[in-house]
Amino acid sequence: MHIHELDTPALVVDLDVMERNLIRMAEYTRAHGLRLRPHTKTHKSPLLGARQLANGAAGLTVAKVTEAEVMLASGTEDLLIAFPIFGAEKMRRLVEVAKKTRVTVSVDSVEAARPIAEAAAAAGIPIGVLAEVDAGLHRVGVQPELFVSLLRGLAPLKGIELRGMAFYPGHIKNQDPGALAALSTLIQGLVAEAAAAGFALPVVSGGTTPTMWHSHEVAGMNEIRPGTYIFNDRNVVLSGACTLADCAATIIATVVSTSVPGQFVIDGGSKTFSSDRAIVDGFGLFLDAPDALFEKMNEEHGYVKHAGHQRKVGERVRVLPNHICVAVNLHERIYGVRGDQVVESWTVDGRGKLQ
Ligand SMILES: Cc1ncc(COP(=O)(O)O)c(C=O)c1O
Repeated sequence: MHIHELDTPALVVDLDVMERNLIRMAEYTRAHGLRLRPHTKTHKSPLLGARQLANGAAGLTVAKVTEAEVMLASGTEDLLIAFPIFGAEKMRRLVEVAKKTRVTVSVDSVEAARPIAEAAAAAGIPIGVLAEVDAGLHRVGVQPELFVSLLRGLAPLKGIELRGMAFYPGHIKNQDPGALAALSTLIQGLVAEAAAAGFALPVVSGGTTPTMWHSHEVAGMNEIRPGTYIFNDRNVVLSGACTLADCAATIIATVVSTSVPGQFVIDGGSKTFSSDRAIVDGFGLFLDAPDALFEKMNEEHGYVKHAGHQRKVGERVRVLPNHICVAVNLHERIYGVRGDQVVESWTVDGRGKLQ
């Protein structure tokens, strides 16, 4: 099928670009002796999880237990749930997942770890934990000065295996050498402190897409979990970690109204692109209409201001979303293209898997 025959709005992935992104990451991590455990929240599809495993990933990461259930179909032999999950129903499902593959959960409190330990002990199935530290995002993770206390709290819990340390340096949004050096000092110091207290940390797991090519500079980190790198997006371009040519996923939309002077309206709004903003203006970048500014959205309408070149009703435009991970979660199906041909499509099996 020709790309112009796709009904819109349609999320399309340039497979050549995606495969180049996967290969580049596999080569980078291999060259630097880093373990790659990509976060699958970006694509939410076991089909693409399997392609990441075929391209050097040693395991996969998810945020939710229901995502873990979906991601089993990738065939992964190692799953990290990088989220402090809590609740009886989650424990029940976690044990079922752990019967099928090796599972690790990142935790930042003994309160969160205890139910995991109890569920694992009751089922007689080992479940691993990574002790999470706040590396600067101030989201989850114990404060660095409490890291060793967390390790000491986790150690006596029967049923869980302490497999290492996790952190997420999402506060570093660009290639700032000072921020990376501070992160490196922090992580190296914590690994040394843990060792002095008698805790070996076989896994030291961090990494983001904006900092992906600097991962080897973070002393002590031996595993990275980038997610967005498979597609990249406008925010990753703005972070300086990739170029527009490395962006694999775009949304094709149709101009449906030109009734207001200086503006055209497309057939997608916040339910197609998400409302995530970038550090610059607009809800996305019009790749084939550089004079267009994606100024405003309703759920199904995108308001686009243009600087002179009015589009015609029925014309198609291609938009690079600001944040591809949330856009993917809004779409039922993704279309894989090579050049202008649609060569495959897949369902986003993990979309809406929030529990
Ligand atoms: C815990 C965790 N690890 C890894 C990632 C992947 O990072 P990125 O979006 O920079 O690829 C995320 C992203 O939200 C995350 O929350």
